[in-house]
Amino acid sequence: MLKLGVNIDHIATVREARKAQFPRPLDGALLAEKAGAWGITAHLREDRRHIQDADMCELSQKVKNLNMEMAVTDEMVAFAVKIKPHSSCLVPEKRQELTTEGGLDVVGQLDKIRVAVDKLHQSGIIVSLFIDPEEAQLDAAKAVNADYVELHTGTFANASGAEQIRELERLKGAAKYAHRIGLAVNAGHGIDYVNISGILEIPHLSELNIGHSIVGRAITVGMEEAVREMINAMKPYAK
Ligand code: PXP
Repeated sequence: MLKLGVNIDHIATVREARKAQFPRPLDGALLAEKAGAWGITAHLREDRRHIQDADMCELSQKVKNLNMEMAVTDEMVAFAVKIKPHSSCLVPEKRQELTTEGGLDVVGQLDKIRVAVDKLHQSGIIVSLFIDPEEAQLDAAKAVNADYVELHTGTFANASGAEQIRELERLKGAAKYAHRIGLAVNAGHGIDYVNISGILEIPHLSELNIGHSIVGRAITVGMEEAVREMINAMKPYAK
């Protein structure tokens, strides 16, 4: 069954807009779980623009399968080792970006990433690498012993027409290649209630990580309904 991981960063974005106490990411996370989400993802950014350290600590204690999105830094690896999320997803991070832009360059940072993966594994944390759908990055992910790759679907989500079809073919090819070399495959970024139908053509998927569209939808229909609608949209997945 294709699993849903709900990224709750933007609940914290609303709270931080006023530096207030509410809304609380944990409340949204628990409602998402209640509605059938398999996992909860939160990104502790270096600039702490949305999720805060205390959110991560609380989430790690109260949700079932917490996925900590994080940059490959000593600070973040040490934090993950301290709170022990179920899994971690290593992402590139730039201070000025609006959201994660592009996948992690595993090829160019093999040794650094291998050290981070080893440290996380020693604490029993499953490791996923967020990468663009390229064979060289997949080979590198395998070489550093990642458990999963999360294929970056942002380019597909932002494209249209022939360009979008081309990007979907790249994602499908990458998923097949990842499966062949023994990597488990997740996907995420920019997935919404409409483009999900294209995403479902990608074979071998374990989990989708979806944030902005679900949190946005929750503003009008509530978190539980927004999550249920996405789970229903994922049901035709067969591969
Ligand atoms: N996966 C990764 C690695 C991400 O960085 C993000 C954005 O934080 C997501 C998934 C979720 O993307 P979106 O909010 O566009 O659904």
